[in-house]
Amino acid sequence: MTAPDRPCPDFDADFRAHFRDLLVWRRDVRRFRTDPLPDGLLERLLDLACLAPSVGLSQPWRFVRVDDPARRDAVRMEFERCNAEALAAQAQDRARLYARLKLAGLREAPCHLAVFVDPDPTQGAGLGRRTMPETLAYSAVAAIQTLWLAARAEGIGLGWVSILRPEVMNGLLAVPAEWRLVGYLCIGYPAEPDDVPELERAHWEQRHPLSDVLFQR
Ligand SMILES: Cc1cc2nc3c(=O)[nH]c(=O)nc-3n(C[C@H](O)[C@H](O)[C@H](O)COP(=O)(O)O)c2cc1C
Repeated sequence: MTAPDRPCPDFDADFRAHFRDLLVWRRDVRRFRTDPLPDGLLERLLDLACLAPSVGLSQPWRFVRVDDPARRDAVRMEFERCNAEALAAQAQDRARLYARLKLAGLREAPCHLAVFVDPDPTQGAGLGRRTMPETLAYSAVAAIQTLWLAARAEGIGLGWVSILRPEVMNGLLAVPAEWRLVGYLCIGYPAEPDDVPELERAHWEQRHPLSDVLFQR
């Protein structure tokens, strides 16, 4: 293999400081303004998301933009049902706090995007996933994280909704039965950008220091 003729960019200290800001200000957003995204922006962000790594270069992510109001309503109702069940399953000391959390911006977000994984893509010829087929889903997660950062760099927020039954979502969105939902994303301009996770501000959970999760052998 020959070296590429494009020079590798210099990611300097200014860039690194900026990149850190991007990571700190990437938040899960549930409170959106309702104004739409500019034409073509979602496609541009998805092009960037497709730069994510994927097992065997399989690019198993499948994006479904949900514009149809009836389908959006059905997804919102599915969320409300699942969220009511989740509330009912909360321990007594958590239930009141859970009930106050806002866990999706499905009504306000101008853009809804479902991300599925194809569990058996021909692309990639199976490389890398024989012992760990779940790496296909991990690849789709990598695409979502890339999309999350790319969106935030444009001032756009993303909220990940997982309080849904995946097997119901295939029917609601008329996608192949074998695809598996990875995340349902609300996308739009944040009503109030913040650099602290909403669950921390709501006293549901705190972030833990690296020392809690770093092990040495
Ligand atoms: C796989 C996954 C699923 C999530 N599902 C939900 C969800 O259903 N509702 C919600 O409000 N937030 C959801 N989140 C967002 C997390 O609550 C959020 O990432 C976490 O509280 C940390 O906040 P931050 O993203 O602002 O750093 C999800 C995040 C991930 C990675």
